[in-house]
Amino acid sequence: MNATDLLVIARDLAIRVGDIALAGRRKGLTQVDTKSTTTDMVTEYDRSTEQEIVSTLRRLRPDDSIVGEEGGGHDGTSGITWYIDPIDGTTNFLYDLPMWAVSIGAHDADGPLCGVVYAPALRETFTAIRGNGAHLNGRSISCGSVTELPQALIATGFNYSPANRLVQAARFPVIIDKIRDVRRFGAASLDLCFVACGRYDAYFEEHLFPWDTAAGALIASEAGAVVGSPDGREIDRSAILASNSALFTQIQDLLFRANSM
Ligand code: IPD
Ligand code: CA
Ligand code: CA
Repeated sequence: MNATDLLVIARDLAIRVGDIALAGRRKGLTQVDTKSTTTDMVTEYDRSTEQEIVSTLRRLRPDDSIVGEEGGGHDGTSGITWYIDPIDGTTNFLYDLPMWAVSIGAHDADGPLCGVVYAPALRETFTAIRGNGAHLNGRSISCGSVTELPQALIATGFNYSPANRLVQAARFPVIIDKIRDVRRFGAASLDLCFVACGRYDAYFEEHLFPWDTAAGALIASEAGAVVGSPDGREIDRSAILASNSALFTQIQDLLFRANSM
């Protein structure tokens, strides 16, 4: 199987389970629990969606590894690892806000290989294959071309830990008067996709997990964005900055100044 075949599996799966979760959400939620903190929620659909993704991948790709946010996992031998966020944007899902997505990304030995982010309530499917560009509902997309900070609309997110949130929020007095505005829509995978299609000029966040970014980071980079670290130091993707190349170092510098205050 090549990367296109893998993407077709992931895309069809994300659309199938995402539509089931949306239909279920519209009937009402019966089970809402908390995880790491009182603001970190999990619903029956986070669990059932992940279970369906994992069992389908296990059937179709028995030798692949799987890492799922809700605990679904498997150690495989093929060299392919799937990262699954069954519902990215659970708080939005809970409140029936449309900004949530099923995110499925596959990595191989060379890094991100293919990924899909499907937002059922928006009816939008973002896809990418390494070296083949990024697409929204089948149409090619590319990131924005703004080059100056005062024209840059920048998205971010806040971690569930109150202590981390305070650190994140404390940057904004330094940032807010130097950029066009800030958005916090609440789904990291979609934030990356919105950079990919030019709806935001940049997105940064830290304390993320591979399932938050595996698909979206590839979609953003295949759309022409630079995807890297907000402070120029970290090499993993728990802290991420995505923007076009003209803005990237300007935002890194701004965040460096905000962190030094
Ligand atoms: C969260 C969302 C949110 C981001 C958090 C993530 P979840 O994922 O992506 O936008 O700010 O850091 O944990 O819990 O909704 O899957
Ligand atoms: Ca997530
Ligand atoms: Ca999630």
